[in-house]
Amino acid sequence: MSEQTATEGKTYPPDPELSKTANVRPEMKEQDLREFWDEQAKARLDWFEDYDEVLDWQLPYAKWFVGGKLNACYNCVDRHVEGGKGDKVALHVVPDDGPDSSEARDITFSDLQREVVKMANGLKELGVGKGVPVGIYMQMIPEAVVAMLACARLGAPHTVVFGGFSGKAVAERCNDLECKVLITQDEAMRGGKAGAQKTNADEGLDAGPTTVEKIVVVRRTGADIPMNDRDVYLHDLTANVSDDPQSCPCEPMDSEDLLFLLYTSGSTGKPKGVVHTTAGYLLGVTTTHNLVFDVKDDSVYWCAADIGWITGHSYITYGPLANACTSVLFEGVPGYPGKDVWWKIIDKYGVTILYTSPTAIKSHMKAGEQHIEGHDLSSIKMLGSVGEPINPDVWEWYREHIGGGKAPIMDTWWQTETGHILITPLPGITTLKPGMAQQPFPGVRPEIRDDEGNQLGVEQTGNLVLTQPWPGMMRTLYKDDERFKDTYWSKYSDAYFAGDGAKYDADGDIQLMGRIDDVVNVSGHRLSTFEVESALVEHADVAEAAVAARKDDDTGQAIVAFVSLKGDKQGTEELEQALREQVAQSIGKLARPATVIFSSDLPKTRSGKIMRRLLKNLAEGEELGDTSTLVDPSVVEQMQKQMNG
Ligand code: WTA
Repeated sequence: MSEQTATEGKTYPPDPELSKTANVRPEMKEQDLREFWDEQAKARLDWFEDYDEVLDWQLPYAKWFVGGKLNACYNCVDRHVEGGKGDKVALHVVPDDGPDSSEARDITFSDLQREVVKMANGLKELGVGKGVPVGIYMQMIPEAVVAMLACARLGAPHTVVFGGFSGKAVAERCNDLECKVLITQDEAMRGGKAGAQKTNADEGLDAGPTTVEKIVVVRRTGADIPMNDRDVYLHDLTANVSDDPQSCPCEPMDSEDLLFLLYTSGSTGKPKGVVHTTAGYLLGVTTTHNLVFDVKDDSVYWCAADIGWITGHSYITYGPLANACTSVLFEGVPGYPGKDVWWKIIDKYGVTILYTSPTAIKSHMKAGEQHIEGHDLSSIKMLGSVGEPINPDVWEWYREHIGGGKAPIMDTWWQTETGHILITPLPGITTLKPGMAQQPFPGVRPEIRDDEGNQLGVEQTGNLVLTQPWPGMMRTLYKDDERFKDTYWSKYSDAYFAGDGAKYDADGDIQLMGRIDDVVNVSGHRLSTFEVESALVEHADVAEAAVAARKDDDTGQAIVAFVSLKGDKQGTEELEQALREQVAQSIGKLARPATVIFSSDLPKTRSGKIMRRLLKNLAEGEELGDTSTLVDPSVVEQMQKQMNG
């Protein structure tokens, strides 16, 4: 939830110059839904075959650009080369050790085309083609982008698993989508340290039956890692293949063909496979990227997210490349090789648009503005924020120190499920308010409702819903239409239920208030309490576990684990470490609980239900309220003592 601060009430009207030149026009907000997207589709994408119908909407199922044929890779790469932009830089590649590294290099659109064609030809030799799913488990190296595009070129759906997730997570997701091939890298390089990557994948895949038959390994560090019969290095696989685009034409895909699955955390059960299809998704990300960030031909854009999340899919790979935009791709972390590495990158490449998360901005605030001194950030014209609510004071710092006291900030609200930005200020149009995403993108119709479905008034927090379809919306959950309907379309019969709390201010601007379900947002990464609980109970000493979130200055939210132990087991520091390790092994390091509270039992009602509300209050350090329905109120006292001590 966003904090009230002294900056509350301040507003920033748009720069009149920007209002004149901005790509987005105020009339777009008045346009009919179909008319707006039809115009965008004709202007922004190249089609192999025209579509017959803009939208076929049978709530909750949408089909966009019905009957059309296109290819996402063609739109991101080939058409730019054919259109004379082959020599334009697509990616400024910044390795882990920063922009001064001898490994820093530029990849033009022509280079990118050759790399993609080579990888696609290599994948073909392994039997990958239209409809054959591929897993990708990589860090922020250019081959990750190339891999996504190579799959798109062949019509092979991909699923990217965040490089920081465990091998178990890789295996689960690859098996669910029935991936035949997994693309990974030998090792990960982050913050000057090499870490396991390929061997993680092995561990996960070897733990049980798997559909993965081949692993393609990109050499990043050159470490001597174990290679088995099923493994092949990318450079060996592509040693003798052609890089001529004619040798591997872009597969014509139906508008509604699966482009990728991205798994995300839900409040219960296994991760949800969010289905994104080709035309609507590609158009949604391309249009929003162009209009929200006011992308021009000479823009230098940097989205500092990770390829493994939806932000990386939409706003590192597909949106910017379809817009023929020059981007920075940074492998590393904010504090290495120096606390000024980000500012060095912006200075060296003349970055004009920076898109990042409140967590990253906060880490820079904490490091201090002295690290900015000596670096020229005057190229910055536009800033973006995503992933969590941004506090007004963080917003002000971002604008002042990174935006030179003038760059507008686009606080963009959206989700893995929505595919692209839906609520955001618009450049040159919106009077900005720190800490608010404010306004729907053209064609988007939000409402804020109470649990009974009534629309709420000013300053009343309720549930954010969307009443009109948009092109990049998830089509369903993979092989689980029931869960799709249940999770998003059953709370209200006529609208998409986003799972976020929100309220309107007196001007009709929207403020997002955080998740209202059991999804925890740690540093902008979505995790479900259920998944963390499942990981904890895998430990032999644990009887039961329940997880709640508390506010954290650095990470937005942090995970508090309440754990009851078997028999006479004691909650020691070693056990706490072991549990954290257990979660890292099972999900990934970012899911490790910040606090572990041990007790003899969890607080339960007489019917045996864990009182989650109580745990939430405990985690947040709030008043506990009524505990009279508990079987054993002393359990809570025990926990409270530990929380305080
Ligand atoms: C949260 C990330 C407030 C929200 C693109 C949403 C935000 C969840 C914002 C989706 C924002 C994202 N202000 N909250 N600007 N952007 N969120 O799927 O709770 O990783 O439901 O997609 O992040 O997270 P996801």
